[in-house]
Amino acid sequence: MPITTTSADFVAWFRSVAPYINAFRGKTFVIAFGGEVVADGKFVELTHDFNLLAALGIRLVLVHGARPQIEQHLARNNLGDTYHQGVRMTDADSMQCVKEAVGRVRVEIEALLSMGLANSPMANADIRVAGGNFITAQPIGIINGVDLMHTGSVRKVDIAALNDRMEFGEVVLLSPLGYSPTGEVFNVTLEDIATATAIALDADKLVFLMDTDGVQDKKGKLLKELTIAGAQAVLSGKRKLPDDVSLYLPCAIRACEAGVARTHLISRHTDGAVLQELFSDEGIGTMVVESTLNTLRAATIEDVGGILHLLRPLEAEGILVRRNRELLEREIARFVVLEHDHRIVGCAALYPFPDEAAAELACLAVDAQCRDRGYGQVILDHMTGLAKTQGLKKLFVLTTRTAHWFIERGFSEADVSALPAQKKSLYNWQRKSKVFVRKI
Ligand code: ARG
Repeated sequence: MPITTTSADFVAWFRSVAPYINAFRGKTFVIAFGGEVVADGKFVELTHDFNLLAALGIRLVLVHGARPQIEQHLARNNLGDTYHQGVRMTDADSMQCVKEAVGRVRVEIEALLSMGLANSPMANADIRVAGGNFITAQPIGIINGVDLMHTGSVRKVDIAALNDRMEFGEVVLLSPLGYSPTGEVFNVTLEDIATATAIALDADKLVFLMDTDGVQDKKGKLLKELTIAGAQAVLSGKRKLPDDVSLYLPCAIRACEAGVARTHLISRHTDGAVLQELFSDEGIGTMVVESTLNTLRAATIEDVGGILHLLRPLEAEGILVRRNRELLEREIARFVVLEHDHRIVGCAALYPFPDEAAAELACLAVDAQCRDRGYGQVILDHMTGLAKTQGLKKLFVLTTRTAHWFIERGFSEADVSALPAQKKSLYNWQRKSKVFVRKI
């Protein structure tokens, strides 16, 4: 979404988020962020975004961390930071520091969530923050002979209590601590609390704010969407991953495997990252999902409306020949549609001419908002495969405006006379489309 400059942009943008507003109302989102966000002074902007989500009827559980604050406290008290196999060891003295640090961070967050200045986005917000003994923890115990003492992991999440709070419209704020039935306090990681809570609540989303923009591939390109298998491949690869990715990506997999539909890994440094991720189609970070959101399938009669919607702007520009609803309904069996997140974003039709062992690829269209995502190529590859399975040897297209796209993909210009006889007789000499052919 471009930065809104005109009122037309603003109106178009506002309308475009309506589907998300509808989809998110009453849904449960768990959003986790490290103590760094508070330490960096970035939390004020974030509260504005949380406020907006809560105002839209999203049930919010926020999970905060306190790592930098705990480290500071330990240093101030001349206590070392002891890690054993990546897990902090918390003895009785360190636990004192943990409690103090976590308490302070929590108070700061609650204070910022309580702001309501008249001239700020928080005007009339009146966020009620709920806290409590929602998390039962157990000691991690002894690993390879080292007792981690007060370092714990989540044993149980009191979902009934959490749901009660959210039913009353309260925003739940969880600290990285858990209690035991024996009255002890345990130091628990924020990612464990967030993941266990999202799973227990059967949350719709789990969001981690992290140091990097998301998960990147070997070349540093952002991976916008990862399936569980894709995420596992990233983790098992040889390259060294940024700390936050090694910490949060396994949690995303765990949540996803346990039924949390979407986990989002986004940057804590980008102002409004939460909004950009949640209220745009493409998002801004990495989303981990059970299986990909894109499906390419044969079209059915129910898709006619969606296809027409996709084709109209291209027809208006003269890029495609106008097709009316009846024609489309009649020929729907020739079409495939590409869906992204249950919305039709692309289509194409294949008309075989078995006598000439050829097929026409027609009506290839991709939604203007989804350009440059390689969808056209995906559809072309699929149609090529489809034609091959029917024993056809060449694919041709008629186009007036998109010649280059096809030339770049191995098509070459041919004369109208090269068309199958039946197609030749229908050729529209006024439109003067060019014919492009490729062997398959
Ligand atoms: N806004 C949508 C959602 O919140 C899609 C986000 C897509 N994000 C991505 N990184 N691919 O579910």
